[in-house]
Amino acid sequence: MWCADAPAKAILFGEHAVLYGAPAIAIAIDLRASVSVKKSTNWLLNGNEFNPLINPHLGHLISEFGTMQSPLSISIDSGIPIAAGLGSSAALSVASGMALSSFSGSLASIESLARAAHRAEASAQGGRASPTDTSVSALGGAVIVNSSRIETLEHRWSIDLESPDGSKHWDVHSLSLPKSLSSIPVVIGFTGNSSSTKEMVEIVANQMHQSAFRASMNEVSELSRQAIELLSQGDPVAIGEAMLQCHHLLKEIGVSSSHLDNLVEAVLPFSFGAKLTGAGGGGCIIALSNEPLSCAEAIRKSGGIPYVTSFAENGVQIMP
Ligand code: MEV
Repeated sequence: MWCADAPAKAILFGEHAVLYGAPAIAIAIDLRASVSVKKSTNWLLNGNEFNPLINPHLGHLISEFGTMQSPLSISIDSGIPIAAGLGSSAALSVASGMALSSFSGSLASIESLARAAHRAEASAQGGRASPTDTSVSALGGAVIVNSSRIETLEHRWSIDLESPDGSKHWDVHSLSLPKSLSSIPVVIGFTGNSSSTKEMVEIVANQMHQSAFRASMNEVSELSRQAIELLSQGDPVAIGEAMLQCHHLLKEIGVSSSHLDNLVEAVLPFSFGAKLTGAGGGGCIIALSNEPLSCAEAIRKSGGIPYVTSFAENGVQIMP
């Protein structure tokens, strides 16, 4: 049996804007998905019959790293809520790639796993997917994805994509967070409503021709650029304020919901700051807080599902 696991992600700044040239800043969090693979007489997924040709993410990874000819039994065990803005499909894709490539006898590099998982995401998201989720799940830690290289950061790789909105280029960097930030508990509040990233990015794309909308998007981009400097300074109060400001801008561009707004409101008295994270519509909020249990209680009282977690150093990894 070959087994690998990978972390979920949360975006601190720059969701949506990263598809239009802005930096996205994302962290890996300690909710993980594991995938195990073994030989079988027929194709199975968690013990049930499975057709790899019709499962968009797994099918893609199997054709890149596994063998379509010899059937496999694949088991997935995930602690990441699905379609909730936490990168569950990216984590599954990079973990599947690692398990499948080690099964087929040539373990793929972290970079090729991230690239293959991004191709799978892009095809599932109608060609509109940045490499943010897949890169942070592969690398762990904190990652900054930008449309050009940022010389002060550690450069990992570049990715190009033909999207419905033209050719896109991204540079993926790792950022080492000061301990004053990486040691703060991360609280996630799930609304319980799933949301489709493909639909949310389409809604945004359809409004990008309006100048007022583009002006708000430019503010999301500018804040994300400023946040890179704030993160290196490591002051959680300043980061928290910027997160809340980011939430208000995301609300302005229409990707929040009243439930997301209520969850943000509810955790503010107990946290440095909070915002929706990921594509929005439904999904989750993220809060940085030294009072994680009070945040969790406030999320529960507002009808959400809390996850008290932490920053994850480790990206995709082989499991014993
Ligand atoms: C999804 O986690 C974040 C978005 O920016 C889409 C993407 O980056 O592919 C909304």
